[in-house]
Amino acid sequence: MSPSRLKLGAALLVLASTFAVAVALACSGEAMPEIGTELYHPLVYGDHPTVEELSALGRKIFIDASLSASGKQSCASCHDPKAAFGPPNALAVQPGGPQLNRFGFRNTPSLTYLHSPVAFTEHFYESEPTGGSDDEGPTGGRTWDGRVNTGHDQALMPLLDPNEMGNVDHRALLQRLVKTAYAEEFKTLLSPPGENVFDDMKASVAWVSIALEAFENSPREFHAFTSKYDAYLRDEAELSPRELRGMDLFNDMKKGNCASCHTSSHKNPASHLPIFTDFGFVALAVPRNTSLPANQDPAFHDLGLCGPLRSDMKAHPEYCGLFRTPSLRNVALKKSFFHNGALHSLRDVVEFYATRDLQPEKWYGHDPKTGKPIKYNDLPEAYWANVNADAPFKPLRNGKPRLNAAEVDDIVAFLRTLSDGYSAYVPPPAASAPAAQTAGLR
Ligand code: HEC
Ligand code: HEC
Repeated sequence: MSPSRLKLGAALLVLASTFAVAVALACSGEAMPEIGTELYHPLVYGDHPTVEELSALGRKIFIDASLSASGKQSCASCHDPKAAFGPPNALAVQPGGPQLNRFGFRNTPSLTYLHSPVAFTEHFYESEPTGGSDDEGPTGGRTWDGRVNTGHDQALMPLLDPNEMGNVDHRALLQRLVKTAYAEEFKTLLSPPGENVFDDMKASVAWVSIALEAFENSPREFHAFTSKYDAYLRDEAELSPRELRGMDLFNDMKKGNCASCHTSSHKNPASHLPIFTDFGFVALAVPRNTSLPANQDPAFHDLGLCGPLRSDMKAHPEYCGLFRTPSLRNVALKKSFFHNGALHSLRDVVEFYATRDLQPEKWYGHDPKTGKPIKYNDLPEAYWANVNADAPFKPLRNGKPRLNAAEVDDIVAFLRTLSDGYSAYVPPPAASAPAAQTAGLR
């Protein structure tokens, strides 16, 4: 992370606590300390922007294709608001770049229910009610490999990524920004008194990222908790017998054991409704997606936590192949699954868990030379020991899979209850924007 990004992150966090100090210093005429808030005079001196204003501006930026090099791609092109801010189609990876003909190698995640991720840590300790605590290993952060921690750092990545919105640098982004339909609103809202925010490239770019982050924190759109399952938890709806069976199989440690990673109950007493991930990192050895341009090179491997998109964990072979567990809320709205989009139906995904090690040929195919079934074809053999082999992967003692065909269907039916839009619930303030931001930005 560059020093300016660090500053920005710090700015958001310390805003609440430094607000009073900064006002006092400004009034007494003393020089402001270098604390990271110096970029954000409007927050300190003025009565704006409010969270609502920033979020409304963020929404406009989010759907604005004119901010991309192609002029045709916005955040919403990949994160479709109609698909829970996940991919708009069944493609494993979405096109990007100036001619919309470049591809990365990661499946687009839904942006819902990312409002409370923990920052990436190599050793996560969860305090148990009994007082003990275990090291749960690498946890948290954003993206499939957890390499960014905040929404504002994240937001600049696609804007500058040559495979995505493709601005060559901050200046190119600023040049596009000043020509947008909302440039005037941006200027009025975010300029320090007597100044023009657009004269300060660093501040303008920072505000773009902060506005996007504020938008991504808006409860109604990003964490509405309006699924059938939420209604069921609030005693406002009944699940069908099939959905109930699916729920039990999902939670049963000897059957699906899904909840051991995709947390389905509230472990954290502060959050009332589960978000179906513990943000932990696990290697599932999902099949190689041979259709990805990057995978045309047989030597290329996306190893997640140990690289290539992050480099700080390169020296840890035990992390190779590990990806961050995604939330399963709204997962039924997706049409491609896993970090490389290798599978295209929810049923296949659940069946993969049940039969990965019993029928590897079904998922990985055969060696073209020997005709023998192969396994784990997207992970070099040196890292196979990292692959999780507990339930549901571990077959029963009689050699049968832990989930039969009907049970796989039941779990799929349960996963379909996790899509928002079933009820008109409005989340309580506790489930909305993080406290520091609400306090700092008012
Ligand atoms: C070309 C498609 C594309 C575009 C355009 C795009 N994204 Fe993404 N987004 C992705 C992919 C792919 C990932 C996963 C990246 C990874 O794991 O390395 C992602 C990840 C994210 C994440 C992290 C999600 C998580 O699960 O932690 C956020 C937040 C995000 N994008 C926001 C945005 C914003 C804001 C914009 C516009 C400024 C945007 N994206 C534009 C494809 C896109
Ligand atoms: C040991 C932890 C673990 C267990 C147990 C587990 N998952 Fe996952 N799940 C993950 C991880 C990690 C990923 C992402 C893997 C990747 O893309 O490489 C994932 C991905 C998924 C996805 C794809 C989501 C998307 O956005 O593409 C679905 C669906 C899913 N899991 C459902 C289930 C179900 C159903 C069960 C139980 C039968 C289950 N998982 C058990 C860790 C786990």
